Parts: sequence; structure tokens; C-alpha cells
Amino acid sequence: MEQDAETFRPAKRLKAALAPNVFAQFTALAKQHGAANLGQGFPSFGSPRFLQDAVMKAMQGDVFATTGAPESLGNQYTRPGGEPNLAETLARLYGPRFNRTLDPLKEIVTTIGAQEAIFTSLFSWTDPGDEVLLFTPCFDAVVRSASTLQVKLIGVNLRPPCDGSTASLKDWSVNMEELERSITPQTRILMFNTPSAPFGKVFRQEELEAIAEVVRRHPRILVISDEVYERCVYDNVSHFHFASLPGMFERTMTLFSVGKTFSCTGWRVGYIIAPSSLAAPLLASHTAVNFCAPTPLQKASAAAFDQAEKEGYFEWFPKMMQEKRDFLVKVLQEVGLKPLVPEGGYFIICDATIFLEAAHIDDDHVSAETPLDERPDVKVCKWMTEKVGVTAIPVSPFYLPESRHYANRLVRLAFCKDEATMSLAAERLKQWHVNHAEKTSV
Ligand SMILES: Cc1ncc(COP(=O)(O)O)c(C=O)c1O
Repeated sequence: MEQDAETFRPAKRLKAALAPNVFAQFTALAKQHGAANLGQGFPSFGSPRFLQDAVMKAMQGDVFATTGAPESLGNQYTRPGGEPNLAETLARLYGPRFNRTLDPLKEIVTTIGAQEAIFTSLFSWTDPGDEVLLFTPCFDAVVRSASTLQVKLIGVNLRPPCDGSTASLKDWSVNMEELERSITPQTRILMFNTPSAPFGKVFRQEELEAIAEVVRRHPRILVISDEVYERCVYDNVSHFHFASLPGMFERTMTLFSVGKTFSCTGWRVGYIIAPSSLAAPLLASHTAVNFCAPTPLQKASAAAFDQAEKEGYFEWFPKMMQEKRDFLVKVLQEVGLKPLVPEGGYFIICDATIFLEAAHIDDDHVSAETPLDERPDVKVCKWMTEKVGVTAIPVSPFYLPESRHYANRLVRLAFCKDEATMSLAAERLKQWHVNHAEKTSV
């Protein structure tokens, strides 16, 4: 029987969510060509040993449990706001960093990864037609969430310094006048992340203070500060929590990810810290959709935070990641890929002009309407996978359509990868470089 197209048409608001996802596309392509996959941002080196121990312990008990004592019911629903051990641990850990005492019952909401935290925050605090100001390039899931919620995103681009030096992200910034000019009566939320993804800029205290100054002038604006990469900060730069600035806690939802902190992105445990007035609707939305995040994984997360402090994990982890960053930056520089050196996060953005030229990919005739598949950065990432044997992710999906041309020559490489994958990628990039030099010198 023929299906009636109108009956089986999904909700119009799902249009962006139904569009092909670059990560799935490039993961499949990498597999097909046996490429060294520096595409999707998940750590392929595994999580710390104490995490495995914690989860095994958290899952014990509960099989035919008859006592009903809380410790024997570790595999059942927990309180929607957060498993009690985790909520207590987070309040203890973040209170001093936010310069206040945090209420574990009212100011913390645990979520199914930080991605749910993004959706839940937007869902709870915007109505269709509201505007969300966003620093771009940004995490692409924000674009899908906003579109599903029929919220209008207004991008404020991170810009390189006026002197044209682009190699270090430290000097890239948001122009405060542009930010102020972008605010309209419909602006409901300002959203940004530090360290930022995919660029890896770590906002300095002075920069965050300047943003707070703008926010103070607009009492209706709330803030979503996505700080999932807070533990991935390099070169002795310090991470600073936006909500710790005077007057900002009251209007900020700060988002975090256990997956990023402990290299276990599949656990899907995230959390939001916010004042109770903002957290109560977040809790209502989260309860309506999920009821709670997985109990044993939350319990294990609490134990992991305790153990991490004892083992010095938070000192070791950024050093280990910085070594990976440095290794890849050096290779990229050697082969002429012009990396923008990140100070935080999982990724290196580089200018792939050398590859566009080798692949004869033209970037002259692209507009905001050019479909993703036909964009030069997408084409060059396909070419890299097929011809160089290394998979990167195109950068245009991280910009809003009107700014996608900035990404024409940019590709993103993840360095949160195991040594074998990193070495294979390095070897192939260098080999390509040698072959290319030989060909062009003939
Ligand atoms: C900036 C940013 N925010 C949030 C997330 C989502 O984190 P989680 O894996 O905890 O859902 C990601 C994941 O890549 C991210 O890059």
C-alpha cells in the first residue's frame, strides 16, 4: 500500500535534526577507506582505571534485592535532580570555584550528557520566536536544538586580530560592540562556551568581565555558559567560570560533561549548575522527558571525582592532552596545514589551502545557500579521507549559514586519540607531503 506523504511527514520543526549529520557521514567514510580517523571528538585512548572500578561497584547489589535499603537499589530510578552522592560531590567541588555555597538539592540538575543540558536549557527558557545570541563557530548540536525549538540563532563570530596574525587562538576575540549591536528586544539568551569548540579558545577573566558588562545592561537576558572542556586547558592557562563574576550566578546556567572530564563520552552524564529560580524549570523539563540520568553512572561519577582528586588526575589529564596537541600541531606545521593552536578542548582547526589546491577544489562560488555537500571544506575532507587516508571534519557546519564562507578552507582534526591512530595519521600526512613535493618539483 502506498503511504500517504502527508500522514507520514514528520513535524516540520524536525527539519534540521533530520538533515544528514557530518559526524556519522565521516565516520562511515573513514571506515570505508581505512583512514586514520581524527574526525569525531571522542577519546579513543579509553578512560581511567578508577572509572571502571567505580562503575563496577556502583552496579553491585540490586539483583533480587529485597531490603529496599538505598545502597541495594543502585540500578533503579534515582531523584530526577541528580543521584544524591553526585549532587553532594558537585556542590562540594564547585561551591568554592563559584565563590558560594551551592545547594545540592536546588542548584544542580544532572542530565543525559551536556547535550541534553543544552536542549533542556533552551527548551525551558525560550519560546518559539525568541532570539539566542551565540558565539560562532559553535557546537553544531546547538543549531539543531534551536531549530527544533523554533528559536532564532544570531551568530557573533570569533574574529582574528586586526594585524592579520591568526596562528594563536589567544588573540581571537568577540567584538563587544558587535555583541551589543546584535541584542534586540527578542534576545532571551546569550550562549557561549569556554574553552570553545571547535576552535579551542579559552576566554580570559577580562574578556568574560567585558561580556558580563554587556549582560548587566540587558536585565532580560539569561546566559548559558557551556564549560564542558573546563579540564582540557593547556599552556598553564586557567579556566575561569563565567558564573563566578559578580551578579552573573543569578542569571547563568553553566553546563558540564562527565564524559569530557573522564574520557567516557558514552556514559552520557552531564550536569547544570544554576540558581534555584533557573534550575526549577530545568528540572521540570528534564523530569518530563527522561525522569533521571542513569543511576549507577551518576553514582560512579561521584566516586570518580573523589578518586581523581586523590590520584592527581586533574593535573595529569591536561598535560597528557597537551602532549597530543603538540605532537599534531608539529606534524600539521611540517606538512603546511597551518594549524590554529588551541589552548583548550579536543580539536585543532587548520587552513587546508594546500589540500584544496592539490585537489583542485574551487572556493569562489559558494554562498550561504550552497548545500553542505557542495561546500569546499566538505569536499576537501572527503578528498583527504580518500587520497591521504586521514579523516577530518569540515568546519562549515559549526557556523550559521551566513558565515559559512569563513570555513571554506578550514578543517578540524581531533587530537583526543590513541597513539596508534595519531601516529598513523602523522605518517600518512607526512607521506602525502613528500609525494606532493616530488610531484610539484618535476
Ligand atoms: C561544546 C560542547 N558542548 C557540549 C557537548 C556535549 O557533551 P556530552 O557528550 O556530555 O553530551 C559537546 C560534545 O562534543 C561539545 O563539544
